[in-house]
Amino acid sequence: MNRTLGVLISGRGSNLRAIIDAIAAGRLDARIAVVISNRADAAGLAHARAAGVETLVLDHRDKARYPSREDYDRALVAELKARHVGLVCLAGFMRLLSPAFVSAFPNGILNIHPSLLPSFPGLDAQVQAWAHGVKVSGATVHLVTADLDAGPIVLQRPVPVADDDTPETLAARILVEEHKLYPEAIRLVLDGGWHLDGRRFLR
Ligand code: GAR
Repeated sequence: MNRTLGVLISGRGSNLRAIIDAIAAGRLDARIAVVISNRADAAGLAHARAAGVETLVLDHRDKARYPSREDYDRALVAELKARHVGLVCLAGFMRLLSPAFVSAFPNGILNIHPSLLPSFPGLDAQVQAWAHGVKVSGATVHLVTADLDAGPIVLQRPVPVADDDTPETLAARILVEEHKLYPEAIRLVLDGGWHLDGRRFLR
């Protein structure tokens, strides 16, 4: 598979940094062609700049340029394709993707989510899990389909929930695992030799 990555972020960018670090350490054979944020103030942009990776800001609130979600997503696809991106990695990119975006990269978009899907999709998954009272939560990397947080699961890692956890302490413990899981999942997908059997990602 084409090992050129495009990483999409909206905020802190700690998963982006984990990917950058894994590449620098030789644990992940890939190249990040571009990091795109939908917010100019995303702190994660600094990680990309520090690593010498090109950054772009496409502000979805710019309605003159992007009247509809499809217009915005088409612009994203154009920037990624112009840089020959083969695998798109969503790393805290807090926007729903239209079917037009998803079909531009068939089985070529990954997302990381801070719960054991299909439990607790959507926003604030760690808070949802904590409030539900589960004893185990975790992190999931999955292929992105047009349905929110519902694509085939590539890798998952469990994280125990302690009685004295707060949503913040739980989120922090999950994040440590996210940073290991995402580069591993990217490597698996790039290395190929996998196929989908229904929604099952098999090697
Ligand atoms: C991460 O916890 C990621 O799993 C989550 O946002 C955070 C981004 O942190 N993503 C979602 O909830 C997607 N539904 P980061 O910007 O430091 O990588």
